[in-house]
Amino acid sequence: MKLMNISLFSGAIFAFLIIYLGSKENTVNYKVQNEKSVMGIERSSYGVTENDEKVEVFKLYNLKGIQVSIITYGGRITAVETPDKNGNKENVILGFKNLEQYEKPNPYFGALVGRYGNRIAKGKFTLNNIEYQLAKNNGENSLHGGLVGFDKVVWKVAEIEENETSVVLKLSYLSKDMEEGFPGNLKTTVTYTLNYDNSLDVLYEATTDKTTIVNLTQHSYFNLSGDFSQTILDHVVEINADKFVPVDNTLIPTGNLASVDDTPFDFRAPTLVGKHINSKNEQVTLGGGYDHCWVLNNQGKGYRSVAKAYHPASGRTMEVLTDQPGVQFYTGNFLDGTLPTPNGGVFGKRSGFCFETQHYPDAPNQPQFPSTVLEPGEKYETKTTFKFSVN
Ligand code: BGC
Repeated sequence: MKLMNISLFSGAIFAFLIIYLGSKENTVNYKVQNEKSVMGIERSSYGVTENDEKVEVFKLYNLKGIQVSIITYGGRITAVETPDKNGNKENVILGFKNLEQYEKPNPYFGALVGRYGNRIAKGKFTLNNIEYQLAKNNGENSLHGGLVGFDKVVWKVAEIEENETSVVLKLSYLSKDMEEGFPGNLKTTVTYTLNYDNSLDVLYEATTDKTTIVNLTQHSYFNLSGDFSQTILDHVVEINADKFVPVDNTLIPTGNLASVDDTPFDFRAPTLVGKHINSKNEQVTLGGGYDHCWVLNNQGKGYRSVAKAYHPASGRTMEVLTDQPGVQFYTGNFLDGTLPTPNGGVFGKRSGFCFETQHYPDAPNQPQFPSTVLEPGEKYETKTTFKFSVN
């Protein structure tokens, strides 16, 4: 009996030691991995543009979660690989297989958009009594910075940083005075930071030496299913906005802000994208689906959670946080099956959606909208986060 007790006792001590040491070892391993290998950034060559400029690709990774690929051409996100609820990693960003394809006309796949994201009516605006005329590259209007916007230039690599809990890629671009018709030398940087919690921060900063306008955004198209042959109509979306910006038939704001109450624009509760997308509502018809700017709530509160998308079948979820007043929710209505996917298919209508955080369209001509004017001595600084998880 005594012997039994002793052996039970020593057995218990042995088991305790194994569990204790084992857990210690796990902790140590975990830390070592965290510091040395879980987060990282890889740099390689991506190709040469038609103008003979070298383009690089950066792979920011968090081996526990997501991997983000970014090229210096247009600062474009070419892929975000994220796990589904079973741990299968797939790319959820619409993109192409090589630089040549990115240089061909395409609707801003993965791109940084500037100097002015979204439309400016007739491509015209006035600052300090001087009228400026931009290229009309969208019918009568100017769209996304003109003919050669920030999406079509090669950005410089300003900084690369690896920390214990994040990896950072800072890109810079100097847009010269009167480039694409915009006044002022605009020194711009965009910093992508991939964090340990599977969030990707995009920090935009700019200064000017003449009064100008700025409205930068990120134009990635997402399909959280990871299957680009599918539409995004089965995604569930939430947008924290009581109002949206109604548009005319050229997608220029009418000037009023409309309530989302009892309209297909009410995404305050999680709603299937496909639920009302083919409704006869006049605004939905004008956009050919959703292609509108939502007036985000809590504008006085700065950086906050504003939108979410969830794909029930895969469990993938993306949350958007921003300090901006608006988000353009665009459901890829103009994708028409002519652009190739990397694996031999084509991008069909509504095979991706964008959450473009920004000021309202045509703000330079609509004084009642929050201003997009940047003065010398001021700093334009805005942050948006795309946070990925599984539910
Ligand atoms: C606009 C769409 C446009 C797309 C690609 C979006 O930001 O709202 O109307 O087709 O960009 O250019």
